[in-house]
Amino acid sequence: MTDQPLHGFRLVRHPLADLKVSALRNKDTPPPEFRSRLQELSQLVAYEALRDFETEPVTVHTPLGPAPGARAARPLVLVPVLRAGLAMSDGILRMFPSAAVGHIGMFRNEQTLQPVSYYFRLPPDAAQAHVLLLDPMLATGNSLAAAADRLKKEGIGKLTCACIIASRQGVERLRAAHPDMTIYGAALDDALDQRGYITPGLGDAGDRIFGT
Ligand code: URA
Repeated sequence: MTDQPLHGFRLVRHPLADLKVSALRNKDTPPPEFRSRLQELSQLVAYEALRDFETEPVTVHTPLGPAPGARAARPLVLVPVLRAGLAMSDGILRMFPSAAVGHIGMFRNEQTLQPVSYYFRLPPDAAQAHVLLLDPMLATGNSLAAAADRLKKEGIGKLTCACIIASRQGVERLRAAHPDMTIYGAALDDALDQRGYITPGLGDAGDRIFGT
């Protein structure tokens, strides 16, 4: 765990975020609570990650008269990497219900730690959208780099990555492949183990979300 700044990585600093990260790290947190904390934390990370989300001015009419307001200037598309990313999109959708959701299915070959893609689907207006790529664990960075490659091949213009816990190595790998993509997260850990898991991290996010 580190507070050292890392280029291209924005650490969400807030006491609420710290409390929720601690609950996620705790090995005794059961799946229902783990899911809830992860969804809430995803909202806090998205709040920062969408700071440059483009809006345009509109006039809204309150019961007492006109008021200046804002509306989205482009669609928001959430793209969770299956399966752990789903808990992040579930949380963010509560805050932004009109977002569309694409999906990227990838698993890691446990020998090579390289990603294997098995599913890819995007909503039709994704190329014009601000796309938020979601995976709670930015570990080696290989899966997210491959996911971002694939999204860019589809012509995605505005791409931001949101995770919960990142490793230093993963951020460096992802930024080397995609220097134009800013990465947001709620914690930055220093190490990976031989299996490519973040240490201390929180374990296997998918297993802890789904109780597998
Ligand atoms: N995926 C996880 O769920 N946890 C890690 O630490 C790394 C990848």
